[in-house]
Amino acid sequence: MKNFKFHVPTTIYFGKGQIEKLGQEVAQHAHNILVVYGGGSIKRNGVYDAAMAQLAANGITAQELGGVDPNPRIATVRKGVALCREHGLDGVLALGGGSTIDCAKAIAAGTLYDGDPWDFVTGIASPRKALPIFTVLTIAATGSEMDSVAVLSDPDHNEKRSFSASCVLPVCSIMDPTYTFTLPARQTAAGCADIMSHTFENYFSRVEDAYFADRVAESLLQTCIQCGPQAIAHPDDYAARANLMWCSSWAINGFLDAGKPVAWSVHKIEHELSAFYDITHGVGLAILTPNWMRYILNEKTESRFAQYGVRVWGLDSSLPLRQLAESAIDKTREFFTSMGLPATLSEVNIDETNLRRMAQKAHQPSFDKTFVPLSEDDIYNILRMSL
Ligand code: NZQ
Ligand code: ZN
Repeated sequence: MKNFKFHVPTTIYFGKGQIEKLGQEVAQHAHNILVVYGGGSIKRNGVYDAAMAQLAANGITAQELGGVDPNPRIATVRKGVALCREHGLDGVLALGGGSTIDCAKAIAAGTLYDGDPWDFVTGIASPRKALPIFTVLTIAATGSEMDSVAVLSDPDHNEKRSFSASCVLPVCSIMDPTYTFTLPARQTAAGCADIMSHTFENYFSRVEDAYFADRVAESLLQTCIQCGPQAIAHPDDYAARANLMWCSSWAINGFLDAGKPVAWSVHKIEHELSAFYDITHGVGLAILTPNWMRYILNEKTESRFAQYGVRVWGLDSSLPLRQLAESAIDKTREFFTSMGLPATLSEVNIDETNLRRMAQKAHQPSFDKTFVPLSEDDIYNILRMSL
């Protein structure tokens, strides 16, 4: 294991009714805030009313920015920054999923930055300070509620890029699993695939002696495999929703990759699919992941895939390594399909047209250090396999 620093100061209030802690938490840091949300699900399921009641009861005033799109737009971030400056706001509260939270993070940092917030994702600037960020999570998926990452899109230029900065770690996140009861099955499934993908990105690494993280990763995957279908079949299954929600945070909060440098290669490829075709992040990952696994399966990697098959899928360890590895990959594909997720790009209306450009844009220098190094041609081949 490599050396690492782990510091995640986000306070989590987890469980039914924990919204009652929101007002007092916000009041410790801010008094006049921006409330950010998406297309309206929070108005239909009561989250908006509960959060606003908390603010009012604690004397916190608010401006609102609704309409954040899935794959949040830089234009919305700019709008939020303008609102914060115009009204002298001193905090940002996100009510929703990863898109809303990421937008809130960029607004919080952008308000205190003397330039355009898109600079954060191009690397022109790295945020050093941000307004305090609070979240009320409504979908188990990205882990944005407990991580330092934000992913932003510029659809006019087919760009989807991320930044990471410790100043955008939420101060506090409210995680009430009952808020996810209203999620449509497809979003539940996509969220589950996203959590599993975060886990795979960390699990399939060149560092092989991070036993503790690897055993936790395996149990995270097993939890998703058990709870994803349960939550789809019974949307108000509290235990299934709660376990998925807690997995979402721990798959990406820095614990699983502590001591294991990882390149997030499947994510970089998926971000190009979303950048060009505006598809749901978890759907893109579900299509790509089994193909990426098949592509990188070789004599050197088969033992890791076999371990995944035995420990996560309970396959018979006496079978030959290659057979175990292939079965584990088949199981992964079958699982995603069983949750109603597509298996091919053509099912989400993506054809060959932009594959070469997407492969070029997805490729990063860090891909030389991934579990199996990936060139631009390799990425292109994985995309072609996914058609
Ligand atoms: O917009 P509303 O009306 O709220 O509807 C949303 C949206 O249509 C709906 N939804 C959310 N909670 C709901 C609900 N509908 C009914 N009931 C509820 N309780 O679900 C749809 C998707 O929401 P979104 O926030 O887009 O989902 P998700 O959390 O999957 O976020 C995806 C975004 O996060 C990025 C993705 O790339 C994508 O842009 N990611 C962020 C990461 C991070 N910050 O660490 C890492 C991830 O790998 C990912 O890249
Ligand atoms: Zn993801």
